[in-house]
Amino acid sequence: MAESLIASPDRIQELKKEAVHLPSWDLTFRQIWDLELLLNGAFSPLRGYLGRKDYEGVCRDMRLASGALWPMPITLDVNEAFAGTLVSGTRVALRHPEGMVLAILTVSDVWTPDKAAEAQSVLGTTEESHPGVFELMRGNPVYVGGSLEGVELPPHHTFKHLRHTPAELKSEFARLGWKRIVAFQTRNPMHRAHAELARRAAQQIEGNLLIHPVVGMTNFGDVDYFTRVRCYEAVIKHMPPHSGMVSLLPLAMRMGGPREAVWHSMIRKNYGCTHFIVGRDHAGPSNPKTGKGFYGPYDAQELAQKHAKEVGIEVVAFEEMVYYEDKGEYWPVSKIPEGGKVLNISGTELRRRLREGSDIPEWFTYPEVVKELRMRYPDRSKQGFTLFLTGLSGSGKSTIANVVVAKLMEAQNRPVTLLDGDLVRKHLSSELGFSKEHRDLNIRRIGYVASEITKNRGAAICAPIAPYRSVRREVRELIDSVGAFIEVHIHAPIETCEARDRKGLYAKARAGLIKGFTGIDDPYEEPEKPEIKIDTSKMSVEEAASTILLYLENEGFIAPEAEAN
Ligand code: PPS
Repeated sequence: MAESLIASPDRIQELKKEAVHLPSWDLTFRQIWDLELLLNGAFSPLRGYLGRKDYEGVCRDMRLASGALWPMPITLDVNEAFAGTLVSGTRVALRHPEGMVLAILTVSDVWTPDKAAEAQSVLGTTEESHPGVFELMRGNPVYVGGSLEGVELPPHHTFKHLRHTPAELKSEFARLGWKRIVAFQTRNPMHRAHAELARRAAQQIEGNLLIHPVVGMTNFGDVDYFTRVRCYEAVIKHMPPHSGMVSLLPLAMRMGGPREAVWHSMIRKNYGCTHFIVGRDHAGPSNPKTGKGFYGPYDAQELAQKHAKEVGIEVVAFEEMVYYEDKGEYWPVSKIPEGGKVLNISGTELRRRLREGSDIPEWFTYPEVVKELRMRYPDRSKQGFTLFLTGLSGSGKSTIANVVVAKLMEAQNRPVTLLDGDLVRKHLSSELGFSKEHRDLNIRRIGYVASEITKNRGAAICAPIAPYRSVRREVRELIDSVGAFIEVHIHAPIETCEARDRKGLYAKARAGLIKGFTGIDDPYEEPEKPEIKIDTSKMSVEEAASTILLYLENEGFIAPEAEAN
């Protein structure tokens, strides 16, 4: 039974009064997703954040201390300062960033987890290129467990007609007279192959289809959910009337493959589904280092099937569907006869076609979906981008950035904004120093502003030192989802930068008057795979700027004049 943790109306009034005097924790958006699904009963049997014993059991073998199955650690991560104020029994008001109290937590445990061990046992890797590991590592260091009393669910302002709590969805199924419901999980736009797979699953179980897309946190670079939801609404209209519906799931995915599949099936059970589709490589990210998945393509199916009985849901295992050209139909890949001609368009190929404005065939997807995707991903000459110049002080970042800005304004009509290191420190980060924490914060601010500019289809030219790799990657992830992120490593040997010493800062650093100067007594972590690398000890400023502009032209960001409008 999915049990809502929202208190009764009388109790809510009491909780609101109590909250006035309680310590508050302001939830992050990532934490709000977990809280919503705890409160609405989607994470049933959990009645709050896992305590330490439960957490250890879940990490070890997917079992709560009671022995009940639960595959994913759900804890509240807080910083050390806040954790230091908590003891067992402390009551904490959990607040939405806008200030409303969403729930009151009664703390049971506070502990510092071994996150690497958690990543290894839950996600099967400690590599930070795994999005789940990355999120885990960048969260707060201390975990808090305890029970929850819900005051209100987080508000949603988008697609309200497609949002349901488990109780609402169950009563909707009852109203429609649906008894057998198969859920289709997705974090991507649906094309014909997915629609065919989902429709066949519903036919196979002689029931109805729930398209249940995740609209919380998904993988880096995924299509935003506004675009996706418009696609799902279009796709469902291509299915037989009254055969299916769309409902949105505000889940923060961990991209944990097999464990994630078991977790997803438990969540769907709580939403009243009787069946759950697990396809190839369910919730499995690919490893940029190997180009392969972190998990075996059918590991998730196996684990979900193994636990299906205990969960109380039937897993409908589906293999990949491909377009069988000879028949003009979608077929499961293993059923294609020897020599049969198969067509497929990979995600990378689709992105290429969108970028270049080339044909996306009817057999692959629906015209409405193409229209949505073309609006979201206009060809590159109309997309925003961020040029992120990173390098040592004195490497030439600002000078090159200034020339690039001037040339870009000459060559095209996209608005151009310069976010130079010194300028940013004057206007945006004047209170910050040069500790790692402050530098990272400075780069996050630049990244945020650049992402807004990029989202709105402008060009942001950033030129900070940005010495640390992990925060540069964070900014890349942020911007990649709204446009293009182009990292430019402005390199010059430290001796060359020091010899230039236009601001006299190296001399000061050598004299010990400035501490923690990048390249002298503070590290610079070189970019591993920048889109452009420029060595200013071997190139003039004009040559460097022209290399960058050529890259932009070759990649289609600057269109020939005749095609620009
Ligand atoms: S960071 O690390 O990205 O936040 O640095 P950034 O904001 O780009 O730094 C801007 C300028 O600050 C001057 N400066 C220092 N740089 C490095 N280390 C220390 N300790 C330091 N103190 C002051 C330096 O001139 C940077 O500008 P550029 O244009 O790179 O020379």
